[in-house]
Amino acid sequence: MGLEIGDFSHADAERGSRVIDVNQAWELLRHDVEFLDLRARQDVLAIKDAHDKVVEVLNPLARETKSINTLKRELANLQEDLQRAHAQVHISEARVNHTLSKLAEMETMVNDELLQKDEAAVTVRKNATSSKSKGLNIAGPVKRYPAEMKNYWYPVAFSACLDSEKPLAIEIFEKNWVLFRGKDGRAGCIHDACAHRACPLSLGKVNDGCLQCPYHGWEYATSGSCEKMPSTRFVPTKVKSMPCIEKDGLVWIWPGSATPESDIPSLLPPENFTLHAEIILDLEVEHGLLMENLLDLAHAPFTHTTTFAKGWSVPSSVKFKTPVETLRGYWDPYPIDMEFRRPCMVLSTIGLAKPGKLEGSDTQSCKNHLHQLHVCIPSTRGKTRLLYRMSLDFAPWLKYVPFIQTLWVHLARKVLDEDLRLVEGQQERMVRGANVWNLPVPYDKLGVRYRKWRVSCEHDHADHHQHEAEEEVPRSHRDGSSIQTRKKNCK
Ligand code: FES
Ligand SMILES: [Fe+2]
Repeated sequence: MGLEIGDFSHADAERGSRVIDVNQAWELLRHDVEFLDLRARQDVLAIKDAHDKVVEVLNPLARETKSINTLKRELANLQEDLQRAHAQVHISEARVNHTLSKLAEMETMVNDELLQKDEAAVTVRKNATSSKSKGLNIAGPVKRYPAEMKNYWYPVAFSACLDSEKPLAIEIFEKNWVLFRGKDGRAGCIHDACAHRACPLSLGKVNDGCLQCPYHGWEYATSGSCEKMPSTRFVPTKVKSMPCIEKDGLVWIWPGSATPESDIPSLLPPENFTLHAEIILDLEVEHGLLMENLLDLAHAPFTHTTTFAKGWSVPSSVKFKTPVETLRGYWDPYPIDMEFRRPCMVLSTIGLAKPGKLEGSDTQSCKNHLHQLHVCIPSTRGKTRLLYRMSLDFAPWLKYVPFIQTLWVHLARKVLDEDLRLVEGQQERMVRGANVWNLPVPYDKLGVRYRKWRVSCEHDHADHHQHEAEEEVPRSHRDGSSIQTRKKNCK
């Protein structure tokens, strides 16, 4: 698949919806490369700096003048510095590789015919943008995912699920990819179709850091390049690869065509929390509706009557208050903080009196807390992979209770089942033309903001911030393409 010049996602590339010419595209890429080169140099300096500090701390003279505890503390701090610097180097490396692969694609694709085609495509997009409505009418089949939505780091797997022997298949934005660990132990992500006869590589096995196709044994490195072709003369070839990074126990990929962001914000709970469960569920609903469900707490006393909201009374008023940022706040009157993190993450902290019971109305003043991370991966327009991580700041011993994992999975599944039958029904109505945002009320604030962000991805980058700032609920906009049939079939 080639690079579409007109769809080139550099923030400046299409400003004003004009088509860039070849020289401008080269110029932009040159800037990218120069910038990345500078970043890489900074990363190297950071590592060197951390290394020098380690040497200094280990210096015999310094050892004599410092206590053991001071030395230990300094070394622990330095180790953290080194780890941070290394993680940054990996991100920079992924960004450099991504830009280089764009350069390679441009080399083969820049010609007059392509430019003419792209010019036509941009004109169509420009027309669509200028005629866009401010309404929020989410009705009809789910649209194709816009390119802008792909320009984010997406967590797609828990690191713990990726061992050195088995590949892990993932589906995102209606394409199949496979994760596996290379020779150096680092995670890589390549297209899940062999260059030979398109056999799914995820059915194969990892051989000394290379993924072996189960059909005729061709082997691929994490860069996507084919390294072995048994029983025939070797022909150099490769499959597509995606920038892939590991951070905070998650594997992240960058599905978009823009240069990857240099920073991946942490999704970890505060330090005093212990991780108790990491669960993956494949659900047959579109990820947007599931996101909105997770961002909605007002439904709890009506929907979750046999699980966490059992016995909750129905408050006279429920509000989501956002004192700090528009996408982060707390639920009044519940002791629950919540945040939507672009592109598909929901973080929540719940104040508990004891497991399952809410306490007071202020999350901070509660003694015990449950921290949840929900990641909704847009697999297809009718399918979502949910990554769920749960941590507690009390009862760390729970982790060692036999079969506790089975219990957590059972509970998570039970809560989700209470939601799914409603969301699936909603989706059914939506596909048939009902507007799922027909009449938003104040407690829908966070869900509406999520949806507005998502709609803004369909327009150009410049419109993005304007949409975020708008407070009124948009009312008219029609969807247009097809959705898969849904049938509950979860892991
Ligand atoms: S299809 Fe993969 S080696 Fe033949
Ligand atoms: Fe729910």
